[in-house]
Order: sequence, then structure tokens, then C-alpha cells
Amino acid sequence: MTVLGSDVRLRPVLDSDLEDVFALESDVLAADMIAFLPREPGDRTAFDTHWARIRSDPDNRIWVIEADGRFAGYALSFLMNGDRQVGYWIERELWGRGIASSALAAVLRELPGRPIWGSTVWDNLGSQRVLLNAGFVFDHVERTQAPRRKAEVDEHVFRLD
Ligand SMILES: CC(C)(COP(=O)(O)OP(=O)(O)OC[C@H]1O[C@@H](n2cnc3c(N)ncnc32)[C@H](O)[C@@H]1OP(=O)(O)O)[C@@H](O)C(=O)NCCC(=O)NCCS
Repeated sequence: MTVLGSDVRLRPVLDSDLEDVFALESDVLAADMIAFLPREPGDRTAFDTHWARIRSDPDNRIWVIEADGRFAGYALSFLMNGDRQVGYWIERELWGRGIASSALAAVLRELPGRPIWGSTVWDNLGSQRVLLNAGFVFDHVERTQAPRRKAEVDEHVFRLD
């Protein structure tokens, strides 16, 4: 799919992507935006442990997002309490080009079942726009502990039927 001049594609994650993923997840500003990230950005041991676990879980789907043939971030889908969830993270220098919206549309074409759930901290307006662009609707608010904020926050939960 071509978005704002970028050709956006999903592909499987390779071991050789992990350096790029680690650099992506080491962006403190972006991690704070997510709020729920339980690992300290830049903690390689925590990163390696987490990524080994999520890559080996057969319930998970994880893709590298490429824009114009270069690493632009990743998208994933996982089960939480039996509900299928989606998430995504784009390199900061590429924000605002429609890459996350395009990638999520591609992810949804890969996932057969519905409903699918997506959630964000209340103030992650960019991520909320990405979900709305993909057809998700606002469902409810949950009070959730956010490690990056060291506080309970309102989590806005969206649903796609
Ligand atoms: C949230 C994130 C994925 C958005 O990626 P992106 O590629 O910039 O998103 P898009 O370009 O597809 O933008 C989608 C919409 O959000 C809007 N948007 C993007 N960032 C925004 C922000 N910080 N505040 C308000 N709106 C924003 C865009 O203007 C666009 O609006 P439109 O559809 O009305 O034109 C990106 O900022 C990111 O990776 N953040 C860190 C990780 C993260 O928060 N992941 C989601 C966890 S819930």
C-alpha cells in the first residue's frame, strides 16, 4: 500500500531485525507515550527476555513494518484474557506519514477473527486516530496501572467487530 509517498509492507521478524527493534524501543519519549511498557527503555536484558518470549508464543503474530523498503517499526497481535489485541510502534522520524494507519489496515487483513481490540492510554491521541482510521470504535475506559507514569491511568479501549 502506498501512503503519502511511502510503500508500506508487513513482513516476518528476523533475528537481524532485533537491533532495529531495540533501538526503536529505547526511545524514551515513545515509551512514555505508550505508558504501559513494563520494561525500561534501553534495558537490553529485559528487551531480549521479552522478545524471546513473545516470538515463541504461538498465539502471537508479529511483523516488521517496512516503508519504502526500510525498517519503520513493528506491529503485533496477541491474546489478552482470550481477547485478540493489536499494537504498533513506528520510528519517531517517520511519524505523521500514515505509516501506522496503513500498517494496521494490513494487519487486519491478516487476522481472520473478530472482534479485535486495541487500547491506548487516554492521552495517546495519535494511536487513537490510528485505531479509528482502521474502523475501530471506542468501547470503554479502564483504570490501569501504567509503569511509565508510575500511576493508574485511564486506558481507552477500542473494538473492531
Ligand atoms: C502512535 C503512532 C503509532 C502513530 O504512528 P504514525 O505512523 O505517526 O500514525 P499515522 O501517520 O498513521 O497517523 C494517524 C493519525 O494520527 C494523527 N496523529 C499522529 N500522531 C499524533 C499525535 N501525537 N497527536 C495527535 N494526532 C496524531 C495523525 O495526524 C493522523 O491523523 P489523521 O488520520 O486524522 O490524518 C506513533 O506515534 C508511535 O509509534 N508512537 C509510539 C508507540 C505507540 O504509542 N504505539 C501505540 C501504543 S497504544
